[in-house]
Amino acid sequence: MFDDTRTHNCGELTKEKIGDTVTLSGWVHRRRDHGGLIFIDLRDRYGITQLVFKPTINKQAHAAAYTLRAEWVISIKGRVIPREEGMINSNLKTGAIEIEVEALTILSESKTPPFSICDEQISAYEEIRLKYRYLDIRRGKLANHLVMRHKVMMTTRNTLDARGFLEISTPVLGKATPEGARDFLVPSRLNPGTFYALPQSPQLFKQLLMIGGMDRYFQIATCFRDEDRRADRQPEFTQIDIEISFCSRDLFFSIVEELVCNIFKSGIAVNFHRPFRRLPYKEAMERYGTDKPDLRFGMELIRLDAVAEKSEFAVFKDVLKSGGVIKGIVVKGGGDISRRTIDDYAEFVGSFGINGLAWIKMQEGGPSSSIVKFFPKPCLNELVETMKAETGDLILMVASSESLVNQSLDHLRRKIGKERKLIKLNHYEVAWITDFPLFQWDPESENYVCEHHPFTSPLPEDISLLDSNPLAVRSSSYDLVINGYECGSGSQRIHDGALQNKIFEMLKLAPEEIKNRFGFFIEALGFGTPPHRGIALGLDRLVMILVNTESIKDVIAFPKTQKASDLMLEAPSPVLQEQLHELKIHIQKKETL
Ligand code: AMO
Repeated sequence: MFDDTRTHNCGELTKEKIGDTVTLSGWVHRRRDHGGLIFIDLRDRYGITQLVFKPTINKQAHAAAYTLRAEWVISIKGRVIPREEGMINSNLKTGAIEIEVEALTILSESKTPPFSICDEQISAYEEIRLKYRYLDIRRGKLANHLVMRHKVMMTTRNTLDARGFLEISTPVLGKATPEGARDFLVPSRLNPGTFYALPQSPQLFKQLLMIGGMDRYFQIATCFRDEDRRADRQPEFTQIDIEISFCSRDLFFSIVEELVCNIFKSGIAVNFHRPFRRLPYKEAMERYGTDKPDLRFGMELIRLDAVAEKSEFAVFKDVLKSGGVIKGIVVKGGGDISRRTIDDYAEFVGSFGINGLAWIKMQEGGPSSSIVKFFPKPCLNELVETMKAETGDLILMVASSESLVNQSLDHLRRKIGKERKLIKLNHYEVAWITDFPLFQWDPESENYVCEHHPFTSPLPEDISLLDSNPLAVRSSSYDLVINGYECGSGSQRIHDGALQNKIFEMLKLAPEEIKNRFGFFIEALGFGTPPHRGIALGLDRLVMILVNTESIKDVIAFPKTQKASDLMLEAPSPVLQEQLHELKIHIQKKETL
């Protein structure tokens, strides 16, 4: 018997190795029988190598090769020989050679897989592919994504280590953190009736590490949030979590920029221009209607309040009277967009609660639309000038409350950008969004809520507004946005116990609740806290951009479904009655749930 460990992988043998004897192991990708010869494509995660079984070389191995089926695992020993003229596959690194098999060992047989591993296109339902995720990984595309993920983690560790950061693990069994999502809870057997919360992020731990003097911390941390799914959200995801003491914003940005640049350079050989663009939140909202603008194309939102005021268009004037705003976008060369498509756009903005989409086509003979008659000539000229519209363009306008106008036009801008292919492939635009408001008003709870989290410091020059005009207070926070994705979020932290307490009070947390939830933290702040700041980068989202996918599931080895289930493990699942008994947990009957 030959040694069945491999001497090479299936993606590396080339002409230079002709004549060598090698051992390969892998999966049977395809089998073809040809005039007494049997050809097998042998696959592992590095590639495919063609094997040829000849009765003249080893009769037994040749006979056994007839029995091989897709996905069986085999090991072979053989000689590297050149492929026959005309059989060379220049698309394959190993395409110039094949292995003349001298010995074959079948290591493991396979049932017929529920979907084809070797077809490029796959029609199997996502549920089936998630149930058999390990087979989907075998198909190669996901495996490449996992390799990219590994690269990002290694680059992170190397870059931050070189900058003096320490990787420190923090507990998974913890206490509720205030990131704003629901917690996943874990019941305690030793303390019946009490629960740990899984961390939504290591926020408090990393701040406590700064108080502990650890100075430069990072962690590739799993975070857990029980929130509604989206294409770029998972209940269990990974952050590159960073915290630093005694560090200006500029130095901090330069460290994070170096990390992000290294990640893109090592991952896909793309160089970003540094320093990254900085866009204050207010400006981002005004020009793009969102705090995570896709800066790869223009079509900016333009405010039309002043010119609308001068018009006779009652719809616009009524909205202005009730405190709303009018904004528009110009679709360059969009004058040929059909009425039907414009109606579709109107329906699209309608789904955000907007009643109607006004439009003007810039035709050779001048602006044309059913609403032009409500705009006296000078007013119409001003509108066209404000919008910088030219012949052949289409102007689209929306009137409503500022938040609805921004929300609907942001989505419409991105939809049209995609449809009209305004986004260049393999192009990346990165920016810091800065100076977010500290609070938002939540009409449901009739309360202030934090735009980021309650440990975010207000801008020093705005602290005096905390009592008089809380909604005008800006925070020392920043988001990192790449191609319209929020890839990171962070801030300067509050390092003063009294200010921290005040923020909790403004959030209407009762003293008892502050004590119960954050008492340990307020106490820690009182023992000499260095000024500190940090960020958490969404590792999954970075990998999504690097591998160019719109689904976060594509970059996670074992992701959860829309309903937060793992279809392979069949989790979550009921547990044994004894376990519940030990935990003193009583499950209500299904009908009462
Ligand atoms: P935040 O909650 O903004 O900040 O999260 C930081 C980054 O994590 C990513 N992210 C997610 N990725 C996938 N699925 C999710 N459900 C999900 N939620 C968030 C995003 C986001 O920008 N403790 C603070 C950070 C800090 O202040 O240092 C925090 O967690 O890319």
